[in-house]
Amino acid sequence: MSSIRSVADLSVTEQRVFVRVDFNVPLSEQKGELTVADDARIVAALPTIKHLIERGAKVVLGSHLGRPKGKSKDTSLLPVAARLAELLAPLVKEVKLTDEPIGDGARKVVADLRPGEVALLENLRWNSGEEKNDEAFAQKLASYADVYVNDAFGTAHRAHASTAGMIKFFADDKKGAGFLMLREIEYLGKLRSGARRPFVVVIGGAKVSDKIGVLESFVRMADAILIGGAMANTFLKAQGKELGKSKVEDDKLNVAKSFLRGAELAKVDVLLPVDVVVAESPDAKTSQTVSADAIPKDRMALDIGPQTVKNYAGRITSAQTVFWNGPMGMFERPLFAAGTKEVAQALTRCSGTTVVGGGDSVAAINEAGVGDKISHVSTGGGASLELLEGQELPGIAALKQTGAAAATTGGSAS
Ligand code: 3PG
Repeated sequence: MSSIRSVADLSVTEQRVFVRVDFNVPLSEQKGELTVADDARIVAALPTIKHLIERGAKVVLGSHLGRPKGKSKDTSLLPVAARLAELLAPLVKEVKLTDEPIGDGARKVVADLRPGEVALLENLRWNSGEEKNDEAFAQKLASYADVYVNDAFGTAHRAHASTAGMIKFFADDKKGAGFLMLREIEYLGKLRSGARRPFVVVIGGAKVSDKIGVLESFVRMADAILIGGAMANTFLKAQGKELGKSKVEDDKLNVAKSFLRGAELAKVDVLLPVDVVVAESPDAKTSQTVSADAIPKDRMALDIGPQTVKNYAGRITSAQTVFWNGPMGMFERPLFAAGTKEVAQALTRCSGTTVVGGGDSVAAINEAGVGDKISHVSTGGGASLELLEGQELPGIAALKQTGAAAATTGGSAS
């Protein structure tokens, strides 16, 4: 962390500053037009963007949206540019969106920027060079700026042209991390080393296979791991319980068993649901609560039950540090949302440090309106899990000061 320069320590006045942001946000259609359905990631990048505007930088923003294979109207950043312009008003009059990520149009928009103005390059993934981390594409992007800033924590686990490849073209004193990136590294980094005890981890979601890496890494760090969501079914079955029609990853039963054994040896408490909310199907109109030992053959578990909520809330509220990732049940259906909502509420009653990561749990926090009572709501799903697993994220590694001069500095757009 100390080897990464903050945007606050870069000279940016009258400089063209490329800021990699993660504006990969959900869109929804309203009256035939796409609009931003959740602007949390845009709002999270505002401190860095405003800092640059206020210091008279010429701000060039770059982001991806979705996973397009080439140019497509539904992956245009147009709705994002509109929302960003609203959020930045009256600091800036407009956010200029380029027609393509690179090319004559983009180069002209960037070259014409005046201090304090903001441009947004069109979806970087429209160019196949972005995901391939293509050298020529990276160099072209670098040529649009004098200074490079990465504030896209949500994409830091991707080694793409804009998150990794282009950075080598900037000298140490011309590259750094934005405020969001620094905050994410600080909070998530503290979970890995220096979390105050008791440290309680709440993990939910559909699949053991998605989370086993992070679960195993928490066995080395946490005091208790509370498991919910459909993945809990696989652990319950691994303990020999009958799960009825519940979703179970039968090919992960051995993984689950070996995790439970490892946690026992490490003396880490693993809490599983003692009761569950069951129904005939996810579309059912009625549900019932049963013991996890008595799930009927024709029912499936779709949420944790009230006694489990009580057990989990007790651990959460008495913890000094809590990390939560993944819903406790099928929370998009109100009938199966109580467990996830109660966990969100329990976090607000914890006086220690609370960190939430992952799209669904963040959505649950926002839906419950308790975001301001959480110490840190991460903008990274996959990125936060990979960082907590102990992996080096390419987008963070590339920001480290090297002591070497850059290959060629950018800044030839005009
Ligand atoms: C995310 O939403 O997790 C990031 O924006 C990365 O998107 P990706 O998984 O399509 O690379």
